Amino acid sequence: MKKFLLYGTLSLGGLFLLIQLVPVNRTNPPITGEIQVPLAVKKILKTSCYDCHSNETRWPWYSYVAPISWLVAYDVKEGRRELNFSVWQTYTTKRKKKKFKEIWEEIAKGKMPMGVYLLTHKEAKMDTAKATQIKAWTEQETKALSDEKHPKTGK
Ligand code: HEC
Repeated sequence: MKKFLLYGTLSLGGLFLLIQLVPVNRTNPPITGEIQVPLAVKKILKTSCYDCHSNETRWPWYSYVAPISWLVAYDVKEGRRELNFSVWQTYTTKRKKKKFKEIWEEIAKGKMPMGVYLLTHKEAKMDTAKATQIKAWTEQETKALSDEKHPKTGK
């Protein structure tokens, strides 16, 4: 029984060390078209969303320890794919409008920032004051996009 425990512990330890060798992508690609936002809104986005929705991810120490690192890297990858404030200017008007709508929906439903992220980032939690600012901002930007005239047709 003692031997069994010893070997069991050793192989678990070995497995832990082995999985550290699996490469994890923690790159921050270049910022090619950052979103332009009022300072107050930028502060909220930077604190609550940028770690997963920009190319300016602050990689915490546990993002270097497998298997947690795999989860963090996956969330950043999927987060950037859905919405990336660092390449925002490359989005079409249609996509921008859709994203503004989704940003507010996700916050209103309390789905973003992700719950698991809030465990280690208390400051990222949304409150009514912050949510109200985000709502006003998304509405204003959506309206500005709708008022934009098409460069060719002028409509
Ligand atoms: C810990 C990482 C993380 C943080 C922090 C985070 N998100 Fe996300 N977000 C994700 C991931 C992963 C997805 C894609 C999977 C999903 O939809 O759940 C996503 C999806 C989204 C989507 C697309 C949802 C859809 O309709 O498919 C929006 C919009 C969004 N996030 C907004 C935000 C905003 C706004 C914040 C900050 C207030 C934020 N997120 C914070 C990880 C994050």
